[in-house]
Amino acid sequence: MMKSTMILLFLVVSIMRGQNLIPEVEALLEKMTLEEKIGQLNLLTPGGGIATGSVVSKNVETKIKTGKVGGIFGVSGPDRVRIAQEFAVNNTRLKIPLLIGADVIHGYKTTYPIPLGLSCSWDMDLIEQAAQMAAKEATADGINWNFSPMVDIARDPRWGRIAEGAGEDPYLGAKVAEAMVKGYQQNDLSASNTMLACVKHLALYGAPEAGRDYHTVDMGKVKMFNQYLPPYKAAIDAGVASVMTSFNDIDGVPASGNKWLLTELLRNRWGFNGLVISDYTSVNEMIAHGLGDLQAVSALSLKAGLHMDMVGEGFLTTLRKSVKEDKVTEAEITHACRKVLEAKYKSGLFEDPFRYLDTDRPKKDILTAENRALARKLAAHSFVLLKNHDNILPIKKDAKLALVGPLADSRNNMLGTWAPTGDPNLAVTILEGFKNVASGARITYAKGANISDDPEFAKKINVFGPRISIDKRSSEELLQEALAVAKTSNVVVAVVGEATEMSGEAASRTDISIPDSQKKLIRELVATGKPVVLVLMSGRPLTIPEEFDLPVAILQVWHPGVEAGNAIADVVFGDYNPSGKLTTTWPRNMGQIPIYHSVKNTGRPAPKDKFEKFKSNYLDVDNTPLISFGYGLSYTTFEYSNLTLNKKNIMQGESVDITVTVENTGNYDGEEIVQLYLRDLVRTITPPIRQLKGFKKVFLKKGERRTVNLELTPDDLKFYNGSLEFVSEPGEFEVFVGTDSNASLKKSFVLK
Ligand code: BGC
Repeated sequence: MMKSTMILLFLVVSIMRGQNLIPEVEALLEKMTLEEKIGQLNLLTPGGGIATGSVVSKNVETKIKTGKVGGIFGVSGPDRVRIAQEFAVNNTRLKIPLLIGADVIHGYKTTYPIPLGLSCSWDMDLIEQAAQMAAKEATADGINWNFSPMVDIARDPRWGRIAEGAGEDPYLGAKVAEAMVKGYQQNDLSASNTMLACVKHLALYGAPEAGRDYHTVDMGKVKMFNQYLPPYKAAIDAGVASVMTSFNDIDGVPASGNKWLLTELLRNRWGFNGLVISDYTSVNEMIAHGLGDLQAVSALSLKAGLHMDMVGEGFLTTLRKSVKEDKVTEAEITHACRKVLEAKYKSGLFEDPFRYLDTDRPKKDILTAENRALARKLAAHSFVLLKNHDNILPIKKDAKLALVGPLADSRNNMLGTWAPTGDPNLAVTILEGFKNVASGARITYAKGANISDDPEFAKKINVFGPRISIDKRSSEELLQEALAVAKTSNVVVAVVGEATEMSGEAASRTDISIPDSQKKLIRELVATGKPVVLVLMSGRPLTIPEEFDLPVAILQVWHPGVEAGNAIADVVFGDYNPSGKLTTTWPRNMGQIPIYHSVKNTGRPAPKDKFEKFKSNYLDVDNTPLISFGYGLSYTTFEYSNLTLNKKNIMQGESVDITVTVENTGNYDGEEIVQLYLRDLVRTITPPIRQLKGFKKVFLKKGERRTVNLELTPDDLKFYNGSLEFVSEPGEFEVFVGTDSNASLKKSFVLK
């Protein structure tokens, strides 16, 4: 090559790199026809997994072979994926491999707790390890792209998908988002055990009106920026490879066609340079939203900044026509195609389309003893001890124990919602777990009640298999059997709550209490006078005012995953001292919803513990929740003292170092999650009374006393003001440190 040509080439490559263009991708784009580019924007599912909409893609094989598909999901296993990949690579002109996606939401085959449960560990190392394990297993099965993490902030427990996220708090949510992206991607997308992550659902999907799934979202920008957007942004900052849009509208425009969201915010403001995909048929659904026909909504979405169309095929079937009619430009299609190809390039598929297809790997990497041990640990760390009347827990391993309740021996309900790659048959039931861990105990089991007695309700829940099985025996017979078993025992453990599919997608409830059949069982068990432990299983916070008042112990276990029974037994029998803390606020009743800890003061704050006319309170219930954000007990007790700040006054850009002494004053070794809340007393936008701004999980042996260090960075003092600038404003701040969001140790400082 002549020297001048080489210099020219070098210059072109450097310019491309400067614009973050990948020369190999640009060269490929040069060769592609309009048709081939549009084909890459099509993401299909041939079925086989759980379809989450009414449409399943047709003729996928022919479409792949004719270059009409850029990626597929719902196909797994090296052999099956190889077939699909060969369709693409051996038949299409340019041999472009497929992205192979999946919903690996809480573990691939080794299912770990639902994400809401996992977030209650507040343990970012563990969460990262969980995601890393999921990536290792999924990639062993041929998957290179994961539709996770789901980081939607949710403050309305009626919404069933609250189960899939990290709860209500933007600070904690951002940390979890970052940990999961790191876990899936490990900063090396082309490694054969990492996968592209996809943060979802941009944006605000967790705030539908009245908690009804897919419902309208209406939110001002200040709230959006301060309370709902931080976790998505954290995932972007952590280098997430792709973003999925949400079903809902934002300021009247559905996310998939929202230019402000996808271009102004995501691309321009946050600098996201990766792939943006729709949710399942969310482009087509814009027709029902009222934005025009398929051609119009597809053009709108492409122009807004969407690159790939999931299942709906609006891009595939209308974009060519739209180019002809000057409704979109070929350059816009090329840009979207570039993003799809770049994702493939980054995951190493161009180098080797079969890189994730080693048939030896599933046996080696999936459901290993090591993975199951991690799932067991993750589950135990996700449980939250809500109450421990008379220290009923832990139970001695030689107890005479009655194990009752419709979830005590219900394999089908252990994995939790949205575990399409997990196998419920592999789950350890509570009955099995108890026998494994406490082989010296005398355990007698009785079902005691149906999850629900309503056959119509059961039908709605049993869509993916039997979750609620209504017993042939009458409810009275079930109850009497349980009471008889209880009476011959020294302690009763009742496993009650929600079936798996009572939370999750399209599983909103307007009454989030424990179903009546089970409530009755609980009351009657307590009336026997035996010590009662409620192991409460659910995919969301529940309203439990009556149960919370009973003289019982309550261990909230969410849906714990494949090692459910073993992990619950570890905690119930004291092999692990529970340390989880709630990441959602639990309401007293439905009327308090939406409910969350970082509320504002209002102009007429309610007085404490009493009603006052013309104040912001209710006639019939206190403003406070039943159980606060950040709350969770341990078998031991922790005392806090000596809160100190290193400065009383700081300048802009300075940090504050905080120390507090924490002492384990009880009889067990244990972990405590030390929490830091901040109050900004005066600013130009009404501040929340408290905001979480730091936490640290510490292990203390019994009797041990330790100084715990925390830090407030300059960013922790900032918020988005009325012009959406991220600023801190001079004035006084109060710092609270303690065991939950009611922390009472307090110190203040002034930002000059
Ligand atoms: C869900 C997404 C999921 C997609 C593909 C949709 O219904 O909202 O979270 O990734 O289906 O399965």
